[in-house]
Amino acid sequence: MSFLESMQWRYSTKRYNPSKKVAIDKMEELKEILRLSPSSINSQPWNFTFVNDADLKDKLAAASYFNEHKIKDCDTLVIFNRVDNLELFEEQIENSLPDGSVEYYKDVLKPLSKKDITTWFDKQVYLSIGVLLSACAQMKIDATPMEGIDGVKYNEILGHKGYHSIVAVAVGYRDEDDSNQIDRSPKSRLPMEKVVTSI
Ligand SMILES: Cc1cc2nc3c(=O)[nH]c(=O)nc-3n(C[C@H](O)[C@H](O)[C@H](O)COP(=O)(O)O)c2cc1C
Repeated sequence: MSFLESMQWRYSTKRYNPSKKVAIDKMEELKEILRLSPSSINSQPWNFTFVNDADLKDKLAAASYFNEHKIKDCDTLVIFNRVDNLELFEEQIENSLPDGSVEYYKDVLKPLSKKDITTWFDKQVYLSIGVLLSACAQMKIDATPMEGIDGVKYNEILGHKGYHSIVAVAVGYRDEDDSNQIDRSPKSRLPMEKVVTSI
């Protein structure tokens, strides 16, 4: 399948088959792909939690509004956590990035408000969601991006220190009756001329 065909194939799965599991080696590959996600100045203001344990998945499902059943039935819930402690982040980049990148952070980002720095972190995290969704599509694994989660409850359940859960992706295989499949619910996008300008 070409990459274009993968993107035409993928869709936000609304019902998962709870008895169809993702092979361990494929899940390990997804973890490595996610780790390789790019970010501005290679800042990596994130960590990712892969939850396969049924009891923990159920607890998180109960804190996920209308997404409850997707989370209960999918194979693994991937949670995207943004760093929420500036000292922790600054220590991380001091230890892992070249001086020039640290200087860039100090000169351009650090003077901003906490809210604006957080927005910049969030942008990096959201890019990594795109990487995971694209990888799942290429590997013919179904996925659902979900903002409909209660991040504060997730933090409590997962015992986060210095990180805040902002978004999650359910990963698994579709239920054959899922009404959101492409043949029943064709892709809907704005026309090319509206979204792309070629000069
Ligand atoms: C950041 C983000 C958050 C989303 N949150 C949810 C969600 O909480 N629950 C859900 O069922 N779908 C969610 N979606 C799925 C979108 O509705 C879906 O991507 C969009 O309608 C396009 O459809 P497609 O993914 O099937 O091509 C989300 C998508 C994105 C990118």
